[in-house]
Amino acid sequence: MKAARVITEKLGSLRVRTALVLGSGLGELVHAVDGAVRIPYREIPGFPEGGVSGHSGELVAGMLYGVPVLILSGRVHYYERGDADAMRPVLEALRQVGIERLILTNAAGSLRSNVSPASVMLIEDHINWSGLNPLIGESSDARFVSMTEAYDAKLRSVLDQAANEIGVPLAKGVYMWFSGPSFETPAEIRMAQMLGADAVGMSTVPEVILARFFGMRVAACSVITNLGAGMTGAELSHQETKDVAPLGGKRLSMIIKKAFEIGFDQA
Ligand code: HPA
Repeated sequence: MKAARVITEKLGSLRVRTALVLGSGLGELVHAVDGAVRIPYREIPGFPEGGVSGHSGELVAGMLYGVPVLILSGRVHYYERGDADAMRPVLEALRQVGIERLILTNAAGSLRSNVSPASVMLIEDHINWSGLNPLIGESSDARFVSMTEAYDAKLRSVLDQAANEIGVPLAKGVYMWFSGPSFETPAEIRMAQMLGADAVGMSTVPEVILARFFGMRVAACSVITNLGAGMTGAELSHQETKDVAPLGGKRLSMIIKKAFEIGFDQA
């Protein structure tokens, strides 16, 4: 409750119902926030401090394209400390301050050669390949969270409509969570393709599970920064993720802007 109190105090009269989590190299969106109130994670009790380059670790509140939002610039990943529930205090605080809709973004590798770097993919479903779950240890029956409609159909449809209206291609597919931090091997990428995944990444899935546990509706988009390991001759690197993400991030910002204009906040 302490975290929620700190955030609520800083929000003043701003009533936020929508939050966004920005992935690696996607921090640009905070610059579009009007009247930004910035709260470093270290000032919020219980909030984790991330250590990944490309993540600044602050919460930014304000108006984004006419909608009051909370933006989480920076997340912690399982691979930082081995805690699958590292983001639990964050998602719990979001719910307590009144967030109902959550847009998660990430950088990901594409498993489809026709969905190339700098593309945006709307996540329709996921495969949790890690074997981990942020709700392990939770004792209430609420831990048996239904994941049938994890990625909200209405929110997805507004994002899809927005992309169509502005003519930005939006791929759709299944995101597969690998723990990281090493990238996948080419054999793992071939396996992921066989199992029905369209993109691979090291985040988002535990947050989706937690968001559903706390009763928030979720939409998620991947910005494709590379093709999966072994699909081209190239080695993968975090530098490439950071370099390419902003290109796709521009497209994603345009989609989110249009989605907000056509009523994402009412969907
Ligand atoms: N694999 C996992 N995570 C990623 C990748 C990838 O290829 N690209 C960006 N994040």
